[in-house]
Amino acid sequence: MTLPTPRPDRTSLVTGASSGIGAAIARELASRGHGVTLVARRRDRLDALAGELAARHHVRAEVVACDVADPDQRARLLPELAERGLAVDVLVNDAGFTTFGPVHGAVAEDEVAMVRTNVEAVVDLCTRAVAGMVERRRGAVLNVASTAAFQPLPGQAGYAASKAFVLSYTEALRAEVHDRGVTVTALCPGPVATEFAQAAGWSDADLEGVVPRPLWVAPETVARVAVDGLDADRALVVPGAANRVLTTAARLAPHAVLLPLLARRHPALGRRAERTTRSG
Ligand SMILES: NC(=O)c1ccc[n+]([C@@H]2O[C@H](COP(=O)([O-])OP(=O)(O)OC[C@H]3O[C@@H](n4cnc5c(N)ncnc54)[C@H](OP(=O)(O)O)[C@@H]3O)[C@@H](O)[C@H]2O)c1
Repeated sequence: MTLPTPRPDRTSLVTGASSGIGAAIARELASRGHGVTLVARRRDRLDALAGELAARHHVRAEVVACDVADPDQRARLLPELAERGLAVDVLVNDAGFTTFGPVHGAVAEDEVAMVRTNVEAVVDLCTRAVAGMVERRRGAVLNVASTAAFQPLPGQAGYAASKAFVLSYTEALRAEVHDRGVTVTALCPGPVATEFAQAAGWSDADLEGVVPRPLWVAPETVARVAVDGLDADRALVVPGAANRVLTTAARLAPHAVLLPLLARRHPALGRRAERTTRSG
């Protein structure tokens, strides 16, 4: 099974396309001739990217501004595309964000919004889109999880749990539809320089001190290996050799040993975070 061949009445719906990994995946798909539907909240950015992709790659690039954490807006996405004469052949669930810090210092509404975006939207959009793919016996789904999916992560407890959900859900979905013409891949990036840290109130500089350089992978590389992996019908894509070694180790290490270590090293926990807070 490979990526469906592009057709004028089909589209690749990419959530989180206004920035970072999602924008890079949209660029990668368009460069391979796929029409794209760009979804996020910041319409101006989507419009700019749609213009770029249509001009550079001569593909149909649609924009739908949508808060994927809002069930009503999500429910309108596929009907809106059907009205434009488009069915979804490729679904990329990329929209997501993290909070940083201990649960006891967190804002409950922020944590729930993260679960709605990272988990609820993935389940909702997969359920809505995969039914049509199975009926047509063609389709591909790329769900963006994280290397944080492979073990609990103190300092980002809700985020890592949300990505563990995405990984588990994606693997099960793949097994369900694999012999029905639909391919499903989980993408688990390690650190990628995007607006991700900034969206959580951190700078890349905050993280660069604690996250070793060999783990960082450029968004364009993540997008290329992700779309290659989807096209090659791979269950799991972890970009970067160092990340693959670390995730294997994380899966094997006993949590009783691993989690206190991770808690000590997380920049949003313990003495390191108190120093950051005190210095402003
Ligand atoms: N960067 C990393 O180190 C890293 C590592 C592993 C996994 N990931 C995952 O990769 C994915 C993309 O992150 P990124 O690194 O590219 O971060 P980013 O640059 O901050 O991009 C996040 C994207 O998600 C969209 N988004 C967030 N909330 C949304 C909502 N409620 N409705 C619609 N769109 C929403 C944002 O668009 P708007 O703000 O315009 O809505 C933006 O396009 C996320 O799922 C993240 O968890 C990132």
